[in-house]
Amino acid sequence: MAPSAETEYGDNVEVPDNKSRVTVVGSGNWGSVAAKLIASNTLKLSSFHDEVRMWVFEEVLPSGEKLSEVINQTNENVKYLPGIKLGRNVVAVPDLEHAVRDANMLVFVTPHQFMEGICSRLVGKIREDAEAISLIKGMEVKMEGPCMISTLITEQLGINCCVLMGANIANEIAVEKFSEATVGYRENKEIAEKWVRLFSTAYFMVSACQDVEGVELCGTLKNVVAIAAGFVDGLEMGNNTKARQLFLDTTMLSTFNFCLHLTVYMITFFESCGVADLITTCLGGRNRKCADAFARNGGKRSFDELESEMLQGQKLQGVSTAKEVYEVLRHRGWLELFPLFTTVHEICIGRLPPTAIVEYSQS
Ligand SMILES: NC(=O)c1ccc[n+]([C@@H]2O[C@H](COP(=O)([O-])OP(=O)(O)OC[C@H]3O[C@@H](n4cnc5c(N)ncnc54)[C@H](O)[C@@H]3O)[C@@H](O)[C@H]2O)c1
Repeated sequence: MAPSAETEYGDNVEVPDNKSRVTVVGSGNWGSVAAKLIASNTLKLSSFHDEVRMWVFEEVLPSGEKLSEVINQTNENVKYLPGIKLGRNVVAVPDLEHAVRDANMLVFVTPHQFMEGICSRLVGKIREDAEAISLIKGMEVKMEGPCMISTLITEQLGINCCVLMGANIANEIAVEKFSEATVGYRENKEIAEKWVRLFSTAYFMVSACQDVEGVELCGTLKNVVAIAAGFVDGLEMGNNTKARQLFLDTTMLSTFNFCLHLTVYMITFFESCGVADLITTCLGGRNRKCADAFARNGGKRSFDELESEMLQGQKLQGVSTAKEVYEVLRHRGWLELFPLFTTVHEICIGRLPPTAIVEYSQS
């Protein structure tokens, strides 16, 4: 499906188009910031079309207006990133097929639980030469084992998929506070460098690393670690306990990565997607915040309740990832090898009290 133009006889013919067209699939907090970063670069880089389409999961705002229409009128995502101009060249599109049509660079950035449905709607609807990148943290667990989101995209859509992860709290990057990120790629370094150019700004420094699994797993698992950190904070255990906790968690995270993908490299942990992301998320992210509230309430208020009260439509990833990781461990007979992940899941579902996180650390 290459771009086409109408001839003077009314026929549609394919036209050569050397410039890349970018669509961002997702328009939450990080999705909107990604669109802003990309849009500032497509205006400057001659190898890209200026326009950046952003697929919006349509919602009706309390005012009765449609979110996509308000974004296009105000150039702001008033629900998920209020107060930040996205760039005049960002166009909100509520129709998924229309949003991806013509694009050869697809940026996926929705909560991971929606990706299977989104991919199945996109089969046969995207350009054959499309390249993808996933900014999504999370995994799908199937009978045959865990499936990272980049793999899901590649398998369902038949396209190559890189990943971008890092110590990236969206609201901070939105106001242009300095941050770094890592693009994980499989083989094609040229494509990775194209993604690096598309995302890099003076305040967002991006580098490439040939380790898709390592980069993606770091980004995914750190949300479970952040839940553990939130429990320790909510129990007011202090910084020494939290440091010990984080040390244990980091060790377990890296071991799990190796066990799952023997190809994962140690050096990846020292990229922005590794230890730096872990620290940021355990200090300031939404998973830590909700887990803190969960522990303060002695586990009596569910994560679903806290999510809808504290996040206003944004999604928690750590709780569902903990469940998915638990399923992987159970399936492989590894539950006892990874007590942190097991304990976090059992606390989240109310099988253990929040204090179990400290007992686990002490043992
Ligand atoms: N926010 C951050 O700071 C941050 C940073 C790095 C990575 N991430 C990752 O980026 C991904 C997207 O997070 P976000 O912060 O942009 O989203 P978000 O949690 O802010 O927003 C939720 C989004 O999901 C959409 N949605 C709701 N129901 C839907 C449905 N049924 N189908 C499809 N979409 C639906 C909403 O419209 C909204 O756009 C996640 O994997 C997250 O872990 C987020």
